[in-house]
Amino acid sequence: MKRREYKIAVIPGDGTGPEVIAEALKVMKAASGKFGFKYTEEIFDYGGERYIKTGKTIDDKELENLKKFSAILLGAIGHPDVKPGILEQGILLKTRFGLDQYINLRPVRLYDSRFCPLRDKKPQDVDFVVVRENSEGLYKGMGEFQKKGTKDEVAIQISYNTRKGVERCLRYAFEFTRKRGRRKKLTLCGKTNVLTYAWDLWQRTFDELKKEYADITTDYAHVDATTMWFVKNPEWFDVIVTDNMFGDIITDLGAMIQGGMGIAAGGNINPNGVSMFEPIGGSAPKYTGKHVINPLAAICAAGMMLDTLGEAAAAKAIEDSVIKVSTTDLKSLAAGKMGYSTEEVGDLVARNI
Ligand code: IPM
Ligand code: MN
Repeated sequence: MKRREYKIAVIPGDGTGPEVIAEALKVMKAASGKFGFKYTEEIFDYGGERYIKTGKTIDDKELENLKKFSAILLGAIGHPDVKPGILEQGILLKTRFGLDQYINLRPVRLYDSRFCPLRDKKPQDVDFVVVRENSEGLYKGMGEFQKKGTKDEVAIQISYNTRKGVERCLRYAFEFTRKRGRRKKLTLCGKTNVLTYAWDLWQRTFDELKKEYADITTDYAHVDATTMWFVKNPEWFDVIVTDNMFGDIITDLGAMIQGGMGIAAGGNINPNGVSMFEPIGGSAPKYTGKHVINPLAAICAAGMMLDTLGEAAAAKAIEDSVIKVSTTDLKSLAAGKMGYSTEEVGDLVARNI
């Protein structure tokens, strides 16, 4: 029998990160009591505060150490007193790349029509998952300046796509679509009409792989059209697979149609290694310490983590509880408008497990 004991690395991070992580851990504890799995938590202080004190983001030894864990739960990285890019590159992206978390999985699910800015859309209309490639593309950081600082300056930013990287992402998406078993439809979201190198490779690999997945309906949409469909016909989608940059952009829009950053969670997944789960909303400095931030996204991230660890029943109970609390108790999903404090929302969800 599988040993249901996990070692969780917790990185509360900056801003409201620690507040929402505290609630996620509260709910994890309730779920472990109910479903009988065990875990230990180790807290790491990576983030803006430590960077300001020590100049350190995350070093190779620390990254190596994270490989000993079953999974990582991350609050938020980003500090108003640190120049944009340093913490994002030095902690978040370094961990995604260093642990080869090559999938960024972002479910977009509306729990209550009240939370949706789209007129007449119901929960069954907004229920899809974005599989974002998480290790290549424009995020690879390749490029150069030419004649920097002159009037003839050129800045080149390269989208780097390998056959192996594209194929492993697409294969994950096909398998995920099959396992999800909802409408068994996979949409490739790209830009084949303009980005004719990268998207030629993606399209060719997609067309090859789909022969192995006869049970999956496939489709293609340009990224600009995809944003249009998100607003007009979100019910069109089941699973969407796309590259790193497009995935980053469309999932912010996805978060909005599911009710905002207060509810949107994601997983940085290495199917053969250590994955990292996070609310996608960021550190929200203006709400820090005010007890008003919505912890549901962090709680959903913990639920996704448990699902990935094989605790499907606990994950389902967490999601069901989040649905119940958000549809019957909360006035809104927005910070300061929930009708409850951060801690009270965590209590409500924990109590319903
Ligand atoms: C996200 C974020 C990050 C990204 C930033 C903070 C580097 O926007 O997780 O979507 O661009 O991937
Ligand atoms: Mn983003």
